[in-house]
Amino acid sequence: MKLLVTGGAGFIGSNFIHYWFRNYPKDHIINLDKLTYAGNLENLKEVENNQNYTFIKGDISDMNIVKKALEGIDIVVNFAAESHVDRSILNPAPFVLTNVVGTQVLLDASVEAKVKRFHHVSTDEVYGALELESPKKFTEETMYSPKSPYAASKAASDHLVRAYFHTYHLPITITNSSNNFGPYQFPEKLISLAATNLLEGKKVPVYGDGLYVRDWLYVEDHCAAIDLVITKGKIGETYCIGIDNDISNIQVIKKILEILEMKEDKIEYVKDRPGHDRRYAIDATKIKKELRWKPKFDFVTALHKTVTWYKENKDWWQKLRDKNFENYYQKQYILRNET
Ligand code: NAD
Ligand code: DAU
Repeated sequence: MKLLVTGGAGFIGSNFIHYWFRNYPKDHIINLDKLTYAGNLENLKEVENNQNYTFIKGDISDMNIVKKALEGIDIVVNFAAESHVDRSILNPAPFVLTNVVGTQVLLDASVEAKVKRFHHVSTDEVYGALELESPKKFTEETMYSPKSPYAASKAASDHLVRAYFHTYHLPITITNSSNNFGPYQFPEKLISLAATNLLEGKKVPVYGDGLYVRDWLYVEDHCAAIDLVITKGKIGETYCIGIDNDISNIQVIKKILEILEMKEDKIEYVKDRPGHDRRYAIDATKIKKELRWKPKFDFVTALHKTVTWYKENKDWWQKLRDKNFENYYQKQYILRNET
């Protein structure tokens, strides 16, 4: 089998490439990645000399490169995206270009290349926000109601993927997962930022009252779920992925402090994110029942594993906290807090 993985140098994409080669060593993987600030070839050092692996630097909205990358491909797995909500609030344009236009170019080229499967990796953020005290959870039937430019761009891409199934019979599947964490996550999302800030002696910025709720999923469990959907999922279907572990941001931070044996004076409450979604929660019954998916990792064990990874891999993340990162951090956390 020959796979085109887009965005394979990012957090989930690189974990997916490692996962796939562990489970299907004979398959071939082409990784097409633009190498934005979030793309990092160091995530793939272990596979770079694998004869079954090829890296192509390129943009998914560049039809010529995409057509070339698709030669002989059976399965496309589309991870490529601008993925950070805060950056989408600061500057939405790249989110529309990559997440919407890029996906459309990839879809057009995949129809022409007659791929056997186009799998689109999406997010629970397309469903909007749930109330804190409500028992409701997102399912595959929940109406789309995105609230951030990032979520809106992912929602648009999901609609395009479904439209290509109905209109051009492209054999698609979609997964909408909750928040991921694990090794190789760029140090800008809550868990990776908290761990790296603390390891550098800095405080952890907590938005608003810190009572926002997410359902954190260990990245390896996400990769296993995508595997099942690609190999056993029904064409045209969507599967929601989450582990039923709704937890507030402040509880997550306190657990990280506990793991690092640090005190709560490292918590700093800062200005809230505009349009901040109060709570996400996933009902993953469909993938559990139809495909027998079950998460292998419980949250606390996986958090331990992850924080230890950041502790033992300072070389990996210290390089990423460079001048560009400092500029972003200033805009996002220092200047915004002063206004
Ligand atoms: P990431 O930001 O770590 O990585 C994105 C990758 O895409 C990077 O390697 C980047 O260089 C590449 N890329 C960006 N624009 C590109 C373009 N135009 N052409 C080619 N490559 C491009 O993101 P991630 O956290 O690994 O997320 C991967 C996918 O999973 C995204 O589609 C995201 O929406 C989705 N998702 C993420 C989470 C999460 O919690 N991180 C949860 C659910 C869904
Ligand atoms: O739900 C899936 C989504 O999860 C993915 O689609 C996105 O790609 C991914 O970025 C993530 O979005 P969130 O906005 O939920 O993740 P983030 O890690 O940015 O924030 C998690 C929660 O923590 C959220 O309530 C905001 C809060 N937060 C975040 C940061 C970065 C803070 O309180 N302080 C922070 O510094």
